[in-house]
Amino acid sequence: MNGDGGERVDGAADERVDAPRTTTYRIAVIPGDGVGAEVIPPVLRTLQVLAERGGFALRFDHFDWSCRRYLETGAMMPADGLDRIAGHDAILLGAVGWPGVPDHVSLWGLLIPIRRRFRQYVNLRPIRVLPGLPGPLRDSAGVDLVVVRENVEGEYSEIGGRLNRGFADEFAVQEAVFTRAGVSRVVDYAFGLAATRRRHVTSATKSNGIVHTMPFWDEIVEERAARHPAVGWRREHIDALAAKLVLRPASFDVIVASNLFGDILSDLAAAIAGSIGIAPAGNINPERDFPSMFEPVHGSAPDIAGKGIANPLGALWSASLMLGHLGRPESAAALVDAIETVLAEGAVRTPDLGGTATTDELGDAVLNALTATGRRADR
Ligand code: NAI
Ligand code: MG
Repeated sequence: MNGDGGERVDGAADERVDAPRTTTYRIAVIPGDGVGAEVIPPVLRTLQVLAERGGFALRFDHFDWSCRRYLETGAMMPADGLDRIAGHDAILLGAVGWPGVPDHVSLWGLLIPIRRRFRQYVNLRPIRVLPGLPGPLRDSAGVDLVVVRENVEGEYSEIGGRLNRGFADEFAVQEAVFTRAGVSRVVDYAFGLAATRRRHVTSATKSNGIVHTMPFWDEIVEERAARHPAVGWRREHIDALAAKLVLRPASFDVIVASNLFGDILSDLAAAIAGSIGIAPAGNINPERDFPSMFEPVHGSAPDIAGKGIANPLGALWSASLMLGHLGRPESAAALVDAIETVLAEGAVRTPDLGGTATTDELGDAVLNALTATGRRADR
């Protein structure tokens, strides 16, 4: 067991003693569109088993917010949607997006309002190369890094517009917004996280080309780094950083990046780990004033939706991040252990991993691995 400060050795048994049996976590479940809705059921089955084993309870409230709903009603979610989930302990999302609905509608109609209203200013994307799952690179052994992406400001802003539409002098302007508070808090989070890991932060910048916001980002990183003397750090221009991520991925621990840079780097890093189908993400409100949201990195995958062959591991790993956030590190670690066991055995794999298994078969394999390790821990 890891992720728990390393003191406890007999995780599963210990958890039952520590945890008050009555704790119930209310989870808002938004399956969404396409394979998003297909990967959620195995996740809920697995979470129930973990809850029973861990001596806590989970209450799932389902919300049909999706592009399907948009096509039927004209809105991704009801007008009071955010109020309905503001009191939940966490949000579990499949994926949203569907052909026929512009992606900016599904993004700005659901995901971005949730991230902003609930101050989920950290987008956490752990990337590991797991045994038995070779990535596309010749040398990716030992990759274990986390991309900490700024999640509510930066380049993804609504400020801007288009003028002279349809004329030869038509133009578009889009303003990036970087605030001292916004950059400081995400950088502090990254340094705090690195302190619990291998104690190194790489800051993604581009202060040679982007001459206002990126020097400002660099300045704040340097200021905040001084407050975390036990953690080493360096800055890298985004272009060079992308190249190094391919050439020497195992050399990174925590990477902190703006909204746009972090978005791109985390997809790149997920590909290095083997498949976008296994990559997890957490949208975190570190102060816990609002619920945090956990979702696989992948989208709704319309090309394979409806076939029952989507890889559920990204959603399962995201559920593990959720358990960690809820204060159930033993359950979180048990789930990741089960995922690793199934990947290392290699017998049950969905087509994206080179196999022929269905979503449910891979989900069940994880559940079986969980039950098997549970039995071992109980002895
Ligand atoms: P995508 O992630 O849905 O698909 C990219 C490729 O990865 C496809 O070939 C797909 O088959 C494969 N793939 C994705 N998830 C998989 C899984 N679980 N198992 C096996 N293979 C998997 O990205 P794409 O095609 O760019 O976007 C499709 C839709 O999803 C769009 O509407 C987009 O806006 C939306 N989207 C939503 C996200 C979210 O809800 N957070 C994130 C990314 C995209
Ligand atoms: Mg992305």
